[in-house]
Amino acid sequence: MDRRVAFVTGASRGIGRAIAEKLASDGCHVVLVARSADRLEALAKEITDQGGSAEACPCDIGDGEALATAVTDAAERHGRFDILVNNAGITRDDLLLRMSDEAWDEVIHVNLRSAFVACRAAVRPMMRGRFGRIINVGSVSGVMGNPGQANYAAAKAGMIGFTKTIGKEFAGKGVTANVVAPGFIATDMTDALPDLVKEEATKRIPAKRFGTPEEIAHAVSFLASDGASYINGRVLAVDGGMTD
Ligand code: NAI
Repeated sequence: MDRRVAFVTGASRGIGRAIAEKLASDGCHVVLVARSADRLEALAKEITDQGGSAEACPCDIGDGEALATAVTDAAERHGRFDILVNNAGITRDDLLLRMSDEAWDEVIHVNLRSAFVACRAAVRPMMRGRFGRIINVGSVSGVMGNPGQANYAAAKAGMIGFTKTIGKEFAGKGVTANVVAPGFIATDMTDALPDLVKEEATKRIPAKRFGTPEEIAHAVSFLASDGASYINGRVLAVDGGMTD
C-alpha cells in the first residue's frame, strides 16, 4: 500500500490508534484525526520514529464544515486520497424511557452524520484517483440492538444502510465501502462499563474474551488493500463469534 493516503478518525486512542498504526505499517501515509492535537502529534512521532509516515490533523468530527475541510485539504496537500476510515464514535447510553433528546441527537450527529460528511468530501478525490476504500466502523449493537443503546444502535445501523448505498453508487469508479462491526473490544470505551456488565458480556461471546484493537485493525487493513477490490457493501463482524 505504498504511498497511499489514509485518513483515520478517532486515531488518538483505542481502535482508531491501532488502525492508524497498522495502515502505517502497511506503507500508507496516515492522516491522524481526533480532537487532541497533543496525542496526535505524539502518535505521529511514534509512527515516523518507526519508519512510517503520519501527520496530526486535529478536528472535531461533530463540526461538519471542519471535517469536510480536513478531508479536502488532505487530498489537496497530498494530491490523492485513497482510504477513509470513519472510526471515531461516542456513546451516551441510557434506557429508552430515560434517554434525552440531547443524548439521541449527539450520538446520531457524531457517529452517523460525520461519516456522511467525510464520505461526501472523500469520494471526489477517490474517483479522480480511480481508487478508494471507505471503511466505516459500525458495531454489533447496530446489527443486534443492545438495551441502553437505542441512539448508538440506530446510528450504527444507519451506517450500514449508508455504507451499502455508497458502495453501490461508486462501485464502477474503483471505490468500495464496507463496514467493520466490532464486538466487545478492550478500549477506554468498554473500560467505562461496570464490571458486572463486562462479565455478562464475556459470557455471551463464544471466544470468551474481549477482542483487541489490533484484531479490528487487521480487518480494516484487509478491506483497505488491493486484495479486497471485489468486496463491497459488506458488514464484516469482528466479534469472537457473537453474531450470526
Ligand atoms: P474510544 O472512546 O477509545 O476512542 C474514540 C476515539 O474517537 C478517540 O480517539 C476520540 O478522541 C475520538 N472522538 C470521539 N469523539 C470525537 C469527535 N467529536 N471528534 C473527533 N474525534 C472524536 O473508542 P473505541 O473503543 O476505540 O471505539 C472506536 C470505534 O469503534 C467507535 O466508533 C465505536 O463506536 C466502535 N466500537 C467500539 C467497540 C468497543 O467495544 N470498544 C465495539 C463496537 C464498536
